[in-house]
Amino acid sequence: MKTFNDPKKLQRWAKAQRLAGRKIALVPTMGALHEGHLSLIAAAKKKGADEIVVSVFVNPTQFGPKEDYAQYPRDHKADAAKCRAAGATAIFFPTPANMYASDHSVWVVEDGALSGSLCGARRPGHFRGVCTVVAKLFNLAHPNFAVFGQKDYQQATIIRRMVRDLNFDLEIVVAPIVREPSGLARSSRNAYLSDDERAHALALSRTLQALKAQAAKGARPWKALQKKAWAALEKAGLRPDYVEAVNAETLAPVKTLAKGTAVLLAAYAGKTRLIDNVLM
Ligand code: PAJ
Repeated sequence: MKTFNDPKKLQRWAKAQRLAGRKIALVPTMGALHEGHLSLIAAAKKKGADEIVVSVFVNPTQFGPKEDYAQYPRDHKADAAKCRAAGATAIFFPTPANMYASDHSVWVVEDGALSGSLCGARRPGHFRGVCTVVAKLFNLAHPNFAVFGQKDYQQATIIRRMVRDLNFDLEIVVAPIVREPSGLARSSRNAYLSDDERAHALALSRTLQALKAQAAKGARPWKALQKKAWAALEKAGLRPDYVEAVNAETLAPVKTLAKGTAVLLAAYAGKTRLIDNVLM
Protein backbone atom coordinates (compact mmCIF):
# COMPACT_ATOMS: atom_id res chain seq x y z
CA MET A 1 0.00 0.00 0.00
CA LYS A 2 1.30 3.43 -0.99
CA THR A 3 1.22 6.35 1.43
CA PHE A 4 0.89 9.94 0.24
CA ASN A 5 1.11 13.14 2.26
CA ASP A 6 1.74 15.56 -0.56
CA PRO A 7 -1.36 16.33 -2.67
CA LYS A 8 0.78 16.92 -5.78
CA LYS A 9 2.37 13.47 -5.48
CA LEU A 10 -1.01 11.77 -5.13
CA GLN A 11 -2.28 13.69 -8.16
CA ARG A 12 0.71 12.72 -10.30
CA TRP A 13 0.42 9.06 -9.31
CA ALA A 14 -3.35 8.98 -9.87
CA LYS A 15 -3.00 10.56 -13.28
CA ALA A 16 -0.45 7.92 -14.29
CA GLN A 17 -2.79 5.15 -13.12
CA ARG A 18 -5.64 6.53 -15.21
CA LEU A 19 -3.37 6.88 -18.25
CA ALA A 20 -2.43 3.23 -17.80
CA GLY A 21 -6.13 2.35 -17.93
CA ARG A 22 -6.47 1.48 -14.26
CA LYS A 23 -9.77 2.06 -12.48
CA ILE A 24 -9.47 4.22 -9.35
CA ALA A 25 -11.91 4.23 -6.42
CA LEU A 26 -11.76 6.99 -3.80
CA VAL A 27 -12.99 6.52 -0.24
CA PRO A 28 -12.94 9.89 1.56
CA THR A 29 -12.80 9.68 5.38
CA MET A 30 -11.76 11.63 8.45
CA GLY A 31 -10.05 8.57 9.92
CA ALA A 32 -10.53 6.75 13.25
CA LEU A 33 -11.60 4.03 10.88
CA HIS A 34 -14.25 1.48 11.85
CA GLU A 35 -16.29 -1.24 10.15
CA GLY A 36 -18.46 1.39 8.44
CA HIS A 37 -15.46 2.88 6.65
CA LEU A 38 -14.06 -0.57 5.86
CA SER A 39 -17.36 -1.54 4.23
CA LEU A 40 -16.77 1.30 1.75
CA ILE A 41 -13.39 -0.20 0.83
CA ALA A 42 -15.10 -3.58 0.39
CA ALA A 43 -17.71 -1.96 -1.87
CA ALA A 44 -14.93 -0.41 -3.97
CA LYS A 45 -13.26 -3.80 -4.30
CA LYS A 46 -16.53 -5.45 -5.27
CA LYS A 47 -17.03 -2.85 -7.99
CA GLY A 48 -13.73 -3.88 -9.54
CA ALA A 49 -11.42 -0.99 -8.67
CA ASP A 50 -7.74 -1.59 -9.54
CA GLU A 51 -6.65 1.11 -7.11
CA ILE A 52 -8.49 2.01 -3.90
CA VAL A 53 -7.41 5.34 -2.43
CA VAL A 54 -8.52 6.07 1.12
CA SER A 55 -8.12 9.68 2.22
CA VAL A 56 -7.80 10.34 5.94
CA PHE A 57 -8.17 14.02 6.73
CA VAL A 58 -9.93 15.73 9.62
CA ASN A 59 -11.09 18.59 7.44
CA PRO A 60 -11.02 21.79 9.54
CA THR A 61 -13.34 23.75 7.23
CA GLN A 62 -16.35 21.54 7.91
CA PHE A 63 -16.28 22.03 11.70
CA GLY A 64 -18.01 24.92 13.44
CA PRO A 65 -16.07 26.98 16.01
CA LYS A 66 -17.76 25.17 18.92
CA GLU A 67 -17.52 21.69 17.42
CA ASP A 68 -15.11 18.83 18.07
CA TYR A 69 -12.30 19.53 15.56
CA ALA A 70 -9.60 19.50 18.26
CA GLN A 71 -10.87 16.36 20.04
CA TYR A 72 -11.72 14.39 16.89
CA PRO A 73 -9.90 11.01 17.26
CA ARG A 74 -6.74 10.70 15.15
CA ASP A 75 -4.71 7.50 14.82
CA HIS A 76 -2.81 7.32 11.55
CA LYS A 77 -0.95 4.15 12.44
CA ALA A 78 -4.07 2.14 13.23
CA ASP A 79 -5.88 3.61 10.21
CA ALA A 80 -3.05 2.58 7.86
CA ALA A 81 -3.08 -0.98 9.24
CA LYS A 82 -6.87 -1.24 8.82
CA CYS A 83 -6.72 0.11 5.26
CA ARG A 84 -4.00 -2.34 4.29
CA ALA A 85 -5.90 -5.29 5.80
CA ALA A 86 -9.10 -4.22 4.02
CA GLY A 87 -7.40 -4.12 0.62
CA ALA A 88 -6.83 -0.40 0.03
CA THR A 89 -3.88 0.21 -2.31
CA ALA A 90 -3.13 3.81 -1.30
CA ILE A 91 -3.73 6.03 1.68
CA PHE A 92 -3.62 9.83 1.64
CA PHE A 93 -2.81 11.71 4.85
CA PRO A 94 -2.65 15.39 3.97
CA THR A 95 -2.26 18.20 6.50
CA PRO A 96 -4.50 21.28 6.72
CA ALA A 97 -1.54 23.36 5.51
CA ASN A 98 -0.98 21.31 2.38
CA MET A 99 -4.71 21.13 1.57
CA TYR A 100 -5.51 24.81 2.15
CA ALA A 101 -3.28 27.67 1.05
CA SER A 102 -3.16 30.38 3.71
CA ASP A 103 -5.13 32.60 1.32
CA HIS A 104 -7.51 29.88 0.06
CA SER A 105 -10.57 31.76 -1.18
CA VAL A 106 -12.67 29.57 -3.52
CA TRP A 107 -15.43 27.40 -2.06
CA VAL A 108 -18.01 24.96 -3.35
CA VAL A 109 -21.39 25.97 -1.93
CA GLU A 110 -24.72 24.18 -2.36
CA ASP A 111 -27.32 26.95 -2.49
CA GLY A 112 -29.57 25.60 0.26
CA ALA A 113 -32.04 23.47 -1.70
CA LEU A 114 -30.43 20.39 -0.15
CA SER A 115 -28.19 21.88 2.54
CA GLY A 116 -30.62 24.39 4.07
CA SER A 117 -32.32 21.83 6.33
CA LEU A 118 -31.42 18.95 8.67
CA CYS A 119 -27.69 18.97 9.59
CA GLY A 120 -27.04 21.87 7.20
CA ALA A 121 -29.41 24.13 9.13
CA ARG A 122 -27.79 23.27 12.45
CA ARG A 123 -24.17 23.29 11.32
CA PRO A 124 -23.68 26.51 9.32
CA GLY A 125 -20.85 26.19 6.81
CA HIS A 126 -20.56 22.44 7.34
CA PHE A 127 -21.52 21.38 3.82
CA ARG A 128 -19.50 24.20 2.29
CA GLY A 129 -16.46 22.61 3.95
CA VAL A 130 -17.51 19.09 2.92
CA CYS A 131 -18.21 19.99 -0.73
CA THR A 132 -15.00 21.95 -1.03
CA VAL A 133 -12.76 19.24 0.40
CA VAL A 134 -14.49 16.49 -1.56
CA ALA A 135 -14.14 18.47 -4.81
CA LYS A 136 -10.43 18.90 -4.03
CA LEU A 137 -10.07 15.17 -3.33
CA PHE A 138 -11.78 14.37 -6.65
CA ASN A 139 -9.25 16.59 -8.42
CA LEU A 140 -6.34 14.95 -6.59
CA ALA A 141 -7.29 11.26 -6.82
CA HIS A 142 -8.89 11.27 -10.30
CA PRO A 143 -11.35 8.54 -9.25
CA ASN A 144 -13.60 6.66 -11.67
CA PHE A 145 -15.93 6.36 -8.71
CA ALA A 146 -16.10 7.48 -5.09
CA VAL A 147 -17.80 5.59 -2.27
CA PHE A 148 -19.83 7.29 0.47
CA GLY A 149 -21.97 5.87 3.29
CA GLN A 150 -25.73 6.17 3.69
CA LYS A 151 -24.94 6.95 7.33
CA ASP A 152 -24.44 10.58 6.25
CA TYR A 153 -27.54 10.68 4.07
CA GLN A 154 -27.69 14.43 3.50
CA GLN A 155 -23.97 14.51 2.70
CA ALA A 156 -24.27 11.72 0.09
CA THR A 157 -27.28 13.50 -1.48
CA ILE A 158 -25.42 16.81 -1.70
CA ILE A 159 -22.27 15.19 -3.15
CA ARG A 160 -24.37 13.47 -5.82
CA ARG A 161 -25.90 16.84 -6.71
CA MET A 162 -22.46 18.48 -6.78
CA VAL A 163 -21.18 15.82 -9.19
CA ARG A 164 -24.22 16.30 -11.42
CA ASP A 165 -24.28 20.10 -11.32
CA LEU A 166 -20.53 20.65 -11.71
CA ASN A 167 -20.05 17.81 -14.25
CA PHE A 168 -17.46 15.87 -12.29
CA ASP A 169 -16.51 12.90 -14.46
CA LEU A 170 -17.07 10.15 -11.91
CA GLU A 171 -19.73 7.98 -10.36
CA ILE A 172 -20.97 8.16 -6.77
CA VAL A 173 -21.63 4.89 -4.97
CA VAL A 174 -23.57 4.91 -1.70
CA ALA A 175 -23.11 1.94 0.65
CA PRO A 176 -25.55 0.87 3.40
CA ILE A 177 -25.17 1.79 7.07
CA VAL A 178 -23.01 -0.60 9.10
CA ARG A 179 -24.30 -1.08 12.64
CA GLU A 180 -23.06 -2.63 15.85
CA PRO A 181 -24.97 -5.78 16.88
CA SER A 182 -26.98 -3.51 19.23
CA GLY A 183 -28.25 -1.53 16.23
CA LEU A 184 -26.12 1.54 16.97
CA ALA A 185 -24.74 2.94 13.71
CA ARG A 186 -20.96 2.77 13.72
CA SER A 187 -19.33 6.17 13.99
CA SER A 188 -15.93 7.56 14.90
CA ARG A 189 -17.80 9.73 17.42
CA ASN A 190 -19.08 6.64 19.32
CA ALA A 191 -15.64 6.68 20.95
CA TYR A 192 -16.78 9.75 22.95
CA LEU A 193 -19.68 7.87 24.60
CA SER A 194 -19.69 6.73 28.23
CA ASP A 195 -21.32 3.36 28.96
CA ASP A 196 -24.55 5.11 29.96
CA GLU A 197 -24.59 7.34 26.90
CA ARG A 198 -23.94 4.35 24.66
CA ALA A 199 -26.97 2.60 26.18
CA HIS A 200 -29.10 5.74 25.67
CA ALA A 201 -27.87 6.00 22.07
CA LEU A 202 -29.56 2.71 21.16
CA ALA A 203 -32.81 4.71 21.07
CA LEU A 204 -31.75 6.25 17.74
CA SER A 205 -31.93 3.05 15.73
CA ARG A 206 -34.78 1.69 17.86
CA THR A 207 -36.89 4.76 17.13
CA LEU A 208 -36.15 4.54 13.40
CA GLN A 209 -37.06 0.86 13.31
CA ALA A 210 -40.37 1.60 15.07
CA LEU A 211 -41.13 4.25 12.44
CA LYS A 212 -40.27 1.86 9.65
CA ALA A 213 -42.63 -0.74 11.11
CA GLN A 214 -45.39 1.92 11.18
CA ALA A 215 -44.76 2.89 7.55
CA ALA A 216 -44.83 -0.76 6.48
CA LYS A 217 -48.48 -0.84 7.58
CA GLY A 218 -49.34 1.89 5.08
CA ALA A 219 -48.90 5.65 4.75
CA ARG A 220 -49.09 7.44 8.10
CA PRO A 221 -49.43 11.16 8.91
CA TRP A 222 -45.98 12.34 9.92
CA LYS A 223 -46.68 15.02 12.57
CA ALA A 224 -48.05 12.58 15.16
CA LEU A 225 -45.27 10.06 14.50
CA GLN A 226 -42.64 12.78 14.78
CA LYS A 227 -43.99 13.83 18.17
CA LYS A 228 -43.89 10.24 19.40
CA ALA A 229 -40.36 9.67 18.08
CA TRP A 230 -39.16 12.89 19.73
CA ALA A 231 -40.66 11.79 23.06
CA ALA A 232 -39.09 8.33 22.76
CA LEU A 233 -35.64 9.86 22.27
CA GLU A 234 -36.12 12.17 25.26
CA LYS A 235 -37.39 9.31 27.40
CA ALA A 236 -34.22 7.37 26.57
CA GLY A 237 -32.14 10.22 27.99
CA LEU A 238 -31.18 11.85 24.69
CA ARG A 239 -31.60 15.46 23.58
CA PRO A 240 -33.12 15.35 20.10
CA ASP A 241 -31.78 17.90 17.61
CA TYR A 242 -34.15 17.01 14.76
CA VAL A 243 -36.39 14.18 13.61
CA GLU A 244 -37.52 14.75 10.02
CA ALA A 245 -39.27 12.79 7.28
CA VAL A 246 -38.18 13.88 3.82
CA ASN A 247 -38.40 12.90 0.18
CA ALA A 248 -35.44 10.53 -0.26
CA GLU A 249 -34.14 12.41 -3.31
CA THR A 250 -35.04 16.07 -2.88
CA LEU A 251 -34.88 16.11 0.95
CA ALA A 252 -38.10 18.14 0.90
CA PRO A 253 -40.24 17.57 4.03
CA VAL A 254 -43.22 15.24 3.59
CA LYS A 255 -46.54 15.15 5.41
CA THR A 256 -47.01 11.40 5.34
CA LEU A 257 -44.61 8.61 6.06
CA ALA A 258 -44.68 6.28 3.06
CA LYS A 259 -42.46 4.43 0.62
CA GLY A 260 -39.76 6.69 -0.82
CA THR A 261 -39.49 8.64 2.42
CA ALA A 262 -36.27 8.91 4.39
CA VAL A 263 -36.42 9.58 8.10
CA LEU A 264 -33.35 11.35 9.41
CA LEU A 265 -32.55 12.21 12.98
CA ALA A 266 -29.85 13.76 15.10
CA ALA A 267 -29.66 13.65 18.89
CA TYR A 268 -27.20 14.43 21.63
CA ALA A 269 -26.06 11.76 24.07
CA GLY A 270 -24.41 14.00 26.63
CA LYS A 271 -22.20 16.29 24.55
CA THR A 272 -21.94 13.87 21.62
CA ARG A 273 -24.10 14.55 18.60
CA LEU A 274 -25.14 11.36 16.80
CA ILE A 275 -27.03 10.94 13.52
CA ASP A 276 -28.91 8.06 11.96
CA ASN A 277 -31.47 7.49 9.23
CA VAL A 278 -33.62 4.90 7.57
CA LEU A 279 -35.28 4.58 4.19
CA MET A 280 -38.96 3.60 4.13
P1 PAJ B 1 -16.36 10.30 8.04
O1 PAJ B 1 -17.35 10.69 9.07
O2 PAJ B 1 -15.03 9.74 8.46
O3 PAJ B 1 -17.06 9.27 7.09
C1 PAJ B 1 -16.41 8.84 5.93
C2 PAJ B 1 -17.38 8.00 5.11
O4 PAJ B 1 -17.73 6.84 5.85
C3 PAJ B 1 -18.69 8.76 4.80
O5 PAJ B 1 -19.08 8.52 3.46
C4 PAJ B 1 -19.65 8.14 5.79
O6 PAJ B 1 -21.00 8.19 5.38
C5 PAJ B 1 -19.14 6.71 5.85
N1 PAJ B 1 -19.59 6.05 7.09
C6 PAJ B 1 -19.39 6.46 8.37
N2 PAJ B 1 -20.00 5.62 9.23
C7 PAJ B 1 -20.58 4.66 8.49
C8 PAJ B 1 -21.38 3.51 8.80
N3 PAJ B 1 -21.69 3.17 10.04
N4 PAJ B 1 -21.80 2.74 7.76
C9 PAJ B 1 -21.52 3.06 6.48
N5 PAJ B 1 -20.78 4.14 6.13
C10 PAJ B 1 -20.32 4.92 7.12
O7 PAJ B 1 -18.08 11.88 6.18
C11 PAJ B 1 -16.95 12.28 6.39
O8 PAJ B 1 -16.01 11.57 7.11
C12 PAJ B 1 -16.44 13.61 5.85
O9 PAJ B 1 -17.50 14.54 5.82
C13 PAJ B 1 -15.78 13.50 4.46
C14 PAJ B 1 -16.76 13.01 3.39
C15 PAJ B 1 -14.57 12.59 4.51
C16 PAJ B 1 -15.29 14.92 4.01
O10 PAJ B 1 -14.39 15.44 4.92
